[in-house]
Amino acid sequence: MHCKKLLACATLLLCGYITSAQVQLTVQAGKPVTDVPPHMWGIFFEDINFAADGGLYAEMVKNRSFEFNSPLMGWKEVKQNNDTGHILIVNRQSANTANPRYAGITVNAPNGGYGLANEGFRGMGIHKGAQYNFSVWANAANGKQLQARIVLLDENGAPIGEAALSGFRDGWQVYKASLTATGAAAKGKLQLLFKGQGKIDIDMVSLFPDNTWKHRPNGLRADLAQMLADLHPGFIRFPGGCIVEGRELATRYQWKKTVGKPEERTLIVNRWNTEFAHRSTPDYFQSFGLGFFEYFQLAEDIGAAPLPILNCGMACQFNTGEVAAMNELDPYVQDALDLIEFANGDTTTQWGALRAHMGHPAPFHLTMMGVGNEQWDPQYIERYRVFEKAIKSKYPQIKLVSSAGPFSKGPMFDYLWKELKDTRADLIDEHYYMPPQWFLSNAARYDHYDRSKGPKIFAGEYAAHTKEGPEAESRNTWGSALAEAAFMTGLERNADVVKMASYAPLFAHVDAWQWRPDLIWFDNLRTVGTPNYYVQKLFSVNKGTQVVPILRNGEALAGKDSLYASAVIDANAHTVILKIVNAGAQPRSLQIALQGVKVPKAAQAGQQVLTASTTTINTLDQPQNIVPVTHQLTAGSRFTVNAAPASLNVITVPYR
Ligand code: AHR
Repeated sequence: MHCKKLLACATLLLCGYITSAQVQLTVQAGKPVTDVPPHMWGIFFEDINFAADGGLYAEMVKNRSFEFNSPLMGWKEVKQNNDTGHILIVNRQSANTANPRYAGITVNAPNGGYGLANEGFRGMGIHKGAQYNFSVWANAANGKQLQARIVLLDENGAPIGEAALSGFRDGWQVYKASLTATGAAAKGKLQLLFKGQGKIDIDMVSLFPDNTWKHRPNGLRADLAQMLADLHPGFIRFPGGCIVEGRELATRYQWKKTVGKPEERTLIVNRWNTEFAHRSTPDYFQSFGLGFFEYFQLAEDIGAAPLPILNCGMACQFNTGEVAAMNELDPYVQDALDLIEFANGDTTTQWGALRAHMGHPAPFHLTMMGVGNEQWDPQYIERYRVFEKAIKSKYPQIKLVSSAGPFSKGPMFDYLWKELKDTRADLIDEHYYMPPQWFLSNAARYDHYDRSKGPKIFAGEYAAHTKEGPEAESRNTWGSALAEAAFMTGLERNADVVKMASYAPLFAHVDAWQWRPDLIWFDNLRTVGTPNYYVQKLFSVNKGTQVVPILRNGEALAGKDSLYASAVIDANAHTVILKIVNAGAQPRSLQIALQGVKVPKAAQAGQQVLTASTTTINTLDQPQNIVPVTHQLTAGSRFTVNAAPASLNVITVPYR
């Protein structure tokens, strides 16, 4: 053999492409089977793992209004320079039911050394050079001459920023100061120190970075919100999850208590505070600083359709399973009706006026809503029907999401599906937290679904669960993400029945998580996209406009030889987009025949690839272990794609 040929052969052998026969795939780009639903790939937000307080909500002070069960949790008295004083927690329940407690401080501090320190949420993340905005509600009838210093401290207790406050007055008022950090800290602290003699009452002690997302007051952590925006999500489901249900009805999520002025929102315990004994988080509460207005605003900011899920008169069935009596469901149903008015109503309506008062006179364009989270059994169906009747008769255009329970199959699932089908439900929320193998084996789950006039599917919570390792991020392996990618080709291929999908949960703080895996990990300064995040992103930003068939021997590719595929065209960008997963250990050479569109000769196509060993994870310290890499390839009506072992490949081919 000619030695050049020999060399080429050896190279092929080395690369492994010769080890398996070429796979022929036909893309029928001229035969769209269905539109890609506008909201197809979305996000699921729940306040779990410190996702809201201590996470997306940018407030840095923990227990800012002394309303935690232990009123001084997160706070420490500071006595320096021989100064003294005293802190009394006062409850004025009848004067302020939403936020009854405040700290009454007696100051005897000629040297400016008495006050309080706040530890933040597992510390405070402070960026050098950044501006921070401090505010406090104070009442100083007997302390007008007191002076205050606000000091940022790093981990060693060294000051890295300072501001002064004075001119305190009689009566509750808000006082503000800004400071610029002269150093950085991952686990910094805030001190509020007084000088002089007298008494001062304080409440709602707050510190926000000036650089919140879109510079909104009471805003969100910019880096975390940017991670969401980068996903270009079609929808955002909020506020959960089990948090909607509460362990008992008293601690269910009530949206009306999360709107209006932040200081008038009533804090409650977070259900994840005690859910898992081995991950108990005694300092986990919901301040609702991030409430329903902020969720709607976020949805609008990132171009996602809002999808609120409401309590349906049932507490979590894994906990108490407490239900509201059928003849006492009205307030729950009214909450749902009022929420539609809050989101969409004219500013002359009661709830539309509140939205306008909060700064958003224009409607938020709510089109869908969930009734209950993971509910099951007849008590759910009974209650769902009451909601459905009330909502559909007043707002027939609102689509309702209903529950298929917590499991992907079984008697509970079958019962709910049957009942909801009879009710002609709009969208049924299926959840699957399963091992990677389940996702690989279920890529064809919807290929044979009932396509008659039945309900559509919302794959509302899913994640491939693998073994735990020492790192917080350890369950977010590339192997888990790859399996999800394979499954997602099945969702995309069946977009006529699967209308929406979201990975869950979304966020987790490395020092304060209860549940993993999660899509995005963070600490107080940094954030990292997991392999699963990049899979979601590749599907979402390449969602296209119409699904087209991609076939091997006339059949969908859903696991044969460990290969999975789906295809769309983007009629606006004039591209055909293929998503091909090679879940096997061998590289594969794929011969693609593109039919039904004219591809320019030697067209430059892009191949975005995610690949690594299946145990690879991204961590805050090593965030780039696996990220998408783009290669150029020359395409035409026939071309070859090489799919590495354990890879997701998104191939974008321009057409005329
Ligand atoms: O995503 C975490 C939890 O999983 C959700 O709160 C719940 O709906 C599901 O059981």
